[in-house]
Parts: sequence; C-alpha cells; structure tokens
Amino acid sequence: MTEFSSRVERISISGIREVFEAASEDAINLGLGQPDFPTPEHARQAAVDAIESGKADGYTGNKGIEPLREAIADKHQRDQGIDVDPADVIATSGASEALHIALEAHVDAGQEVIIPDPGFVSYDALTKLADGEPVPVDLREDLTVDPAAVEKAITDDTAAFIVNSPANPTGAVASEQDIKEFARIADEHDVLCVSDEVYEYTVFEGDHHSPIEYADSDNVVVVNSCSKLYSMTGWRLGWVTGSTERTERMLRVHQYAQACASAPAQYAAEAALTGPQEIVEEMTDSFKRRRDILLDGLADHGIDCPTPHGAFYAMPKVPEGFVDECIDRGVIVVPGEAFGEGGEGMARISYATDEETLREAIEIMGEAAAAARSA
Ligand SMILES: Cc1ncc(COP(=O)(O)O)c(C=O)c1O
Repeated sequence: MTEFSSRVERISISGIREVFEAASEDAINLGLGQPDFPTPEHARQAAVDAIESGKADGYTGNKGIEPLREAIADKHQRDQGIDVDPADVIATSGASEALHIALEAHVDAGQEVIIPDPGFVSYDALTKLADGEPVPVDLREDLTVDPAAVEKAITDDTAAFIVNSPANPTGAVASEQDIKEFARIADEHDVLCVSDEVYEYTVFEGDHHSPIEYADSDNVVVVNSCSKLYSMTGWRLGWVTGSTERTERMLRVHQYAQACASAPAQYAAEAALTGPQEIVEEMTDSFKRRRDILLDGLADHGIDCPTPHGAFYAMPKVPEGFVDECIDRGVIVVPGEAFGEGGEGMARISYATDEETLREAIEIMGEAAAAARSA
C-alpha cells in the first residue's frame, strides 16, 4: 500500500471545493473569495513590459526584486506609519505561501497555534503540515475574536496565534483596542502573533490596525498580498515581513520551497503598490454598497446576520439545510463548518458579485431559508 506522511494525511481538500462541485454550471456563485474587479491596467502593463524586455526571464533574488521590497516597505510606512527595512521583506507566492513559511519557521512538532474558529481554512491545514496542533478559539457574538479568549488559550506549548482582521469568513474587523491587546499578548507572553492582513484595504467603518504598530517586541510577523488589495488573485504575489532574525528563518523555507516569487508578478505588484491607488477606494465603496444591499435583503427574509465591517463576506446564522436548499436553487454559498466547528449553523456569503446578480441571489436565498425552515 502506498504510504503518505502522517502530516499530509491529517489534512484534506477544502470543503469549499466540494460545494462548487455540487453546483450546476450556471449557478450564481457567492462562494468565491476574490474581488470581481480587473487588475489595474498599470500593473498588467508593468508585467508585459518586464516580459517583453526580458528582465523577467530569470530567477530574481530569493527575497524578490529590490524595487518591490522598497515599495512594500513604503506601503507599510504610508498605511501604518511603521518603518520596515526592505531587507526584512520576502516576496512570496501569495499570502498562502507567506503563511506557510511563517508557520514552518516558527512551529515545532506538537506545538500549538491558536486560530479563530470559524477562520480561514489554511490556518488549520498549514499548522498541521508544520506538525503543529491547531487550537481553535470561539468568536464573540459579533464574530470578532476576543483577545481574552486568545490569552486564555496560551500554554507553554503555544508557538503562535493568528490574527486576521478584516476576517475571512466573517467580514469582522477588530477594534483598535483589541489589536493593541493582541500586541500586548505577543509581548507579555513572548509568543508570536502572525497577522494576516490581506483584506486591509476593505474596511467600511473605522480603520484597519495592525498589531505590529503597537508591539514592543519583535513578536509580530505581518502577512499581506496583492490578491485582495489590488484584485490580483491570479498573479500569486504576497509578502511577509518581520524582524531580521525571523525573516532569515522564513527565507530558509522560501529559498528551498519556492526559490523566488514569479518575476513578472513581482513587477506587476511593484506597479500596483507605487501607482495610482484609485482602485482601492473604488472597490471599497462598491463592496460597502453591496454589503448594505445584502444585509437589508437578509433582514427582509428574517435571516439574522452580524454586520460585517470589512472584506467582502457576510456570515449569517442560517436554518439547517439552508446551504443545500440554496444550491438546489442555483446559488452557491459555503457552509460555515467548512471554516471550523464554530461555523456550524452559519453560512459564508461572498458578495463580490454585481448588484443585480446579488439582488437575484438574495431572493433565492430567501426562498431557500423559508424551505429550510419548513422542512
Ligand atoms: C484570510 C486570508 N488569508 C490569506 C489568503 C490567501 O491569499 P493569497 O491569494 O494571497 O494567497 C486568503 C485567500 O482567500 C484569505 O482569505
């Protein structure tokens, strides 16, 4: 019999994929985790230019090209007021790889990683691939993570805790007070905080904050990516930044697993970060309008949903059988339990779709909820 590593046997293909496969081809897909905007033209053009000139033909340095890492450092200064040395940035194949190398570099076999539940599917899987133990923490009623719950979950075996604001799958945005608490916990317990900020630019009320702004120690590592910031999911370009010592360890993993991020994508990302930023406001305004349409529609159909303040997801409480009733009627949503046990009784709705389609989907979800309730 073929033998596989016990680490890989602990994980399976994401539950989200199963939902897509069950749905018909012409279904309205509210299951996708990507913005429905084109990549900015100047970013595309920068990649085309790099390809045509031949400068994207070879490997880049392991950490990525210098101008990109400078652009990332400038971004951190511009948005968060923090000094990042471009030498402490690694350009990665999306935030996905950034999370992977962060956990590989910091988690020993059997060590614990505290993750939100429900939370982004990779936190659990990447912890297991690092041979660690995911420790899920329940969310508050408003779907934010309570720093006190994280602090309570810390043991001698804790290697890291993951903060994700704005969050997938909930759309919840942590308050500045909570972010300060996460920084304090990282400092006081001398435990690593991995801050996944891929939805940083999609905040509707209040501001985005990062634990790295407040931490006094080097116990925060920030993961980010062009995927959701600039609608560039297909380009696979993200980054991770932390102290020199931490970056050097993460680079060891990146060097052997990846060599370097895709060169054309690096040039596109540099252009996205340094070029006109209008797309950011345009996308955020548009998502906010759609969030409001969705929340009003759900309320009209008696579906209770905490108000998401960011990203492009909502996570209402739904009656049993709701997801199947939706799929039968041609609307794809993702069952909450795909994001952890804490997601039971909820569904994730991605509203990265045009307003007309969203309105149509809301009517169908209303019918699905009624059918599920009377079943
Ligand atoms: C919270 C979160 N982190 C990371 C990622 C991965 O993003 P990337 O496309 O940059 O790998 C996603 C993608 O859905 C996400 O939702």
